Parts: sequence; structure tokens; C-alpha cells
Amino acid sequence: MTEKDFLPGAYQKFPENGKVTWKAPSNIALVKYWGKRPVQIPANPSLSFTLDTCATTTSVYFEKKDANDTLSFDLFFEGKPKNDFKPKIRTFLERIEMYVPFLKKYHFTIETSNSFPHSSGIASSASGMAALSLCLMDIEKQLNLTMDEALFYAKASYLARLGSGSACRSIKSNLVQWGEHGNIPNSSDLYGIEYPFDVDPVFKSYCDTILLVHKGQKQVSSTVGHQLMHGHPYAENRFQQAFSNLDKLKPILASGDLEEFIKLVESEALTLHAMMMTSMPYFILMKPDTLEIINKIWKFREETKTPVCFTLDAGANVHMLYPSSAKEKVLGFIQDKLIEHCENGQYIHDRVGVGAIKING
Ligand code: DP6
Repeated sequence: MTEKDFLPGAYQKFPENGKVTWKAPSNIALVKYWGKRPVQIPANPSLSFTLDTCATTTSVYFEKKDANDTLSFDLFFEGKPKNDFKPKIRTFLERIEMYVPFLKKYHFTIETSNSFPHSSGIASSASGMAALSLCLMDIEKQLNLTMDEALFYAKASYLARLGSGSACRSIKSNLVQWGEHGNIPNSSDLYGIEYPFDVDPVFKSYCDTILLVHKGQKQVSSTVGHQLMHGHPYAENRFQQAFSNLDKLKPILASGDLEEFIKLVESEALTLHAMMMTSMPYFILMKPDTLEIINKIWKFREETKTPVCFTLDAGANVHMLYPSSAKEKVLGFIQDKLIEHCENGQYIHDRVGVGAIKING
């Protein structure tokens, strides 16, 4: 599909009012997206596990209004008005308005809440933008009764991308690829697709336990981090590496080769942070406890031969990835050795999920 496919034809009807609700998950990248060009086009392809428990639920109430030349909406976060989120949502709605021109015909009340603790340092932009995009697509489906399912999900991912790049990987299926790649059929810079190759069942129930090392505000936002890849001395090599890591992952995912999986995933995480450390200005998002945890994971893996590895987002928290068969052992290890490195002893147990769901009622 191309940009043109996402411009709607004439709408068939305009209901007076209504309400839609979607729950969209967070995701954790195996091959990282870091670097982009306007508008939200990734510098390299990426791939992520969709999560299950960490999710945002968003309801959108819509009501026809008289004047239809402005955007109008109210925003509630966890039951309370949230004015400081409004500019981000307004920018997003303005950016997507040409693709969903019904936006100016309605007044919207957006109510959103996260399943994970408030300000846990877990990115809520991916699940948040995905849930909101799905709600808007659900409304558009009521205006355009002939829209098919493939277009519905591709366009939801397309819109979500315009809100936050990684959000386009939080729409549908358990393993999502985003970004054009010559060896991945139907891959696109515009939206995420279901990973089109064979995947060993071990990865379908993979666990992700998120150790909350630092819950405060990040010292550098992802937006700024992406920008610092422009003119970065190692950017070109890094982008090439992401392309080649996707090639390397294909047989690893198909065969369930956990040893090779671990090497590739940890290298991706450390490369992401190496890019931050070697940009200008440079910055470090890992905390001393992040490093302690990484070293303990390596020692535990060596000693017990448990196939557990780590990955990192643009922050200090550590995602521990492992097959569900190792769950008891790993959770015991976390209790014994890692919990002391988590802020207030907090961690979240999650696993690979199937994608967003519509909530009825
Ligand atoms: C490190 O999607 O948060 O998590 O497009 O500016 O909203 P924007 O960035 P964002 O970047 C996420 C980067 C990452 C890696 C990844 O998820 O692929």
C-alpha cells in the first residue's frame, strides 16, 4: 500500500455520536529503530515482540458539532483532565487530519489509561498512539462501510506511526516488522506488518520481565535521540547493521536457535546505547543498576545455562527475555539477585501478546 491508499474517498454517512474503545499493547524491539527522517520515516527497519500486559486502553466519544473548521477535543488520563498531554495529541491530530478528514466534524472526548504504573519509565507513547489510532479508524469504519480489514489495520498502523514511530508496531500480531527491507516481502516504511516468515513456537510464548530501574523523567527524549543520528559518525554503519541483523534473524527465528538469538538481541541493545554515547552531544541513559543487572544476567546465564538475555529501550529499565519454560528459574533469580536493583523493588512480568483488541460496551 502507498500513501494514496490511506486518503479516504467520500464518507457514506456521519453518525450523530458514538463511542469506541481499544486496548493496544506496548512492544519491545529486538532490532531497534533509532534514526528517522521526515515525516516519521525510519532510517532502518526494525522488528519487535508485541507485549501482552503492558497496554493502554483508550475510549473516544464523538459528537457532531456545528462548526467544522477546527479540531476540538478533551483529554482525560486515568480519570483526570490531562492538559499537559494535549499539545502532543493536537500535533498528532493535525498531522493525520488529511487522512481522517472527519476529525473536524466532531468534538472528541478521549479517555485513556495505562495498565502499567504511572511514570514507570515504560514508554506509553507506543501503546497510547496505537490505541488512539485504532479508535479513530473504528470511527472511520462507521463512516466508510466498505473498508476491508487489511486496510483498517494497515491504516491504523500508518496513523500510529505519525504519532510515534514505534507505535506502528503495536497494532496487530505477535512479531511486527516495520521499515522497507529488500528481503522482506511487503515491508514498508509507512506501517508495520506481521513478520512474514516462519517463527519457532518458542517465541510465541516468550516472556519479558521488565525491571524498573529508574522511573523518573529521561534525561534525553527519544525525539532528540533520533535527531542526533543525523551527522552521527557511525550512523551509516549502524543502519546497515540493522538491515543485516534482520537477515540474520530469519533463520534464528525459524529454528529457535536461542544462543544466536541472545547474541543478536543483546548486541542490538548495546549498539543502541553506544549510538547515544557516541552522538554529539553524547549521553548515557543506563544507570549503575542497569549495568549491575546486565552483569548478573551474564553470570547467571553462564552458571545455569538458562537462555535468558536482556534488551534495553531508550532508558535505564532492563527487559529480560526468555522462553516460558524458564519462567520459574528466572523469576526466582530476579527475587534473589535483581530486585535490589529495581526502584522500590518493582518489576512487571509480561509476555508476547497478539496485538490490540476492541473492547465492546
Ligand atoms: C529505542 O518510537 O519512541 O524504543 O518516533 O520519535 O516517537 P518517535 O520515537 P520512538 O522511538 C523508540 C526507539 C526505541 C527502539 C524501538 O522501539 O525500536
